[in-house]
Amino acid sequence: MWFRPEPESPPTAGLPLGIADLGGDVRAPLTALAASWLGVEETQLECSGTAALTVALTALSEYARSRREVAIPAFTCPLVPLAIRRAGLLPRLVDLLPGSFDMDPQRLEDACGPQTLAVVPTHLGGRTADVASANAIAHSAGALTIEDAAQALGARIDGRFAGTLGDIGFYSLAAGKGLSIFEGGLLVAQDDVWRERFRRASHRVVRWHPGWEIRRSLELAGYAALYRPSGLGFAYGNSLRRALRRGDLIGAAGEDFSADFPLHRVGRWRRAVGARAFGRLSGFIEATRAQAAARVPALASIPGVHVFTDEGGTWPYLMLRLPDEAMRDAVLKRLWSSRHGVARMFVHALPDYEYLEAMPGGDDVPNARDFAARTLTITNSLWLDDACFEHVCAVIEAVIVSR
Ligand SMILES: Cc1ncc(COP(=O)(O)O)c(C=O)c1O
Repeated sequence: MWFRPEPESPPTAGLPLGIADLGGDVRAPLTALAASWLGVEETQLECSGTAALTVALTALSEYARSRREVAIPAFTCPLVPLAIRRAGLLPRLVDLLPGSFDMDPQRLEDACGPQTLAVVPTHLGGRTADVASANAIAHSAGALTIEDAAQALGARIDGRFAGTLGDIGFYSLAAGKGLSIFEGGLLVAQDDVWRERFRRASHRVVRWHPGWEIRRSLELAGYAALYRPSGLGFAYGNSLRRALRRGDLIGAAGEDFSADFPLHRVGRWRRAVGARAFGRLSGFIEATRAQAAARVPALASIPGVHVFTDEGGTWPYLMLRLPDEAMRDAVLKRLWSSRHGVARMFVHALPDYEYLEAMPGGDDVPNARDFAARTLTITNSLWLDDACFEHVCAVIEAVIVSR
């Protein structure tokens, strides 16, 4: 009898790759396709979103040597403070608005001053942050904004693409993101002076590293083969379940990051794969948006559940806030190891990662800790069918009602 793997949904809705993406003609380079879609002059491809941020900060720090701090939300990807440190700078943590993933503007204003080099408004899970406030606060302190749109390629704010409203922006092309070349990042800047400086900084700090590029190419080929319901148990779910059995939440969430992350050039083959897949991205965003619109009401009708929504965002997953940590954990106990794409976003607020050193501002971030304690995510992959989605809703409702 043939072994038939149990189908599994990924934790985020990434654009699946097809065989045709792996070879053949390329209409235009990935960087040009992305620039024309985003309506910017140019995009710069780096080997990850983290690398894009590192390159930008390295360039920025050379032109404002007295400004050493970068203000970031106290709840974000731990790679962000690692990139800031790699550029020789200091992350300053800013608490969130209560119940929100976005920085509290008053806290941000208090954190900014003549020492501030940049402010990083951060879009999470396709939901958009308040870039206008961040711009106003950063600019009045003489700093620049770097929009972290790692999780929001294609999201719009008042019709304009997230990532293009700040002075600088970056996107992630990592595994599971809207568009993926397994690991990659796109950097954009409004000002051509900065674009030129970023190119130069990249030439200086980013090298060819055949070992890394071969590894990423193999990983991308594996991703194309296995990023499908029948392959995801093997590529993702089984190691997730092993980590959960060990009680290793950081491993389960894939957050065991290293300060020594790679900085290398992206080769032609991976660029071409991204360029071929790019043509399907906006259709995929529309399909996932339609699915989310159909599913949000069922979740929002569960008493005590808050579903984060906005007008122009993208929908890699549905982000939920539950009434308290015990309920959130009870839901995760039943669903994280299921094959239905239920997960946690980031396990902790930044001060609570053991591998990150203490950061200024980190001693006063109650809202970030509360957000980390009460949120969970449900995949918006088109592979999670209605029956499985209804099962997820039923489990959440049962947990809430029973408490
Ligand atoms: C909010 C945020 N910022 C930055 C990054 C880093 O991007 P990358 O994984 O491409 O290095 C991520 C990664 O998921 C992220 O979620």
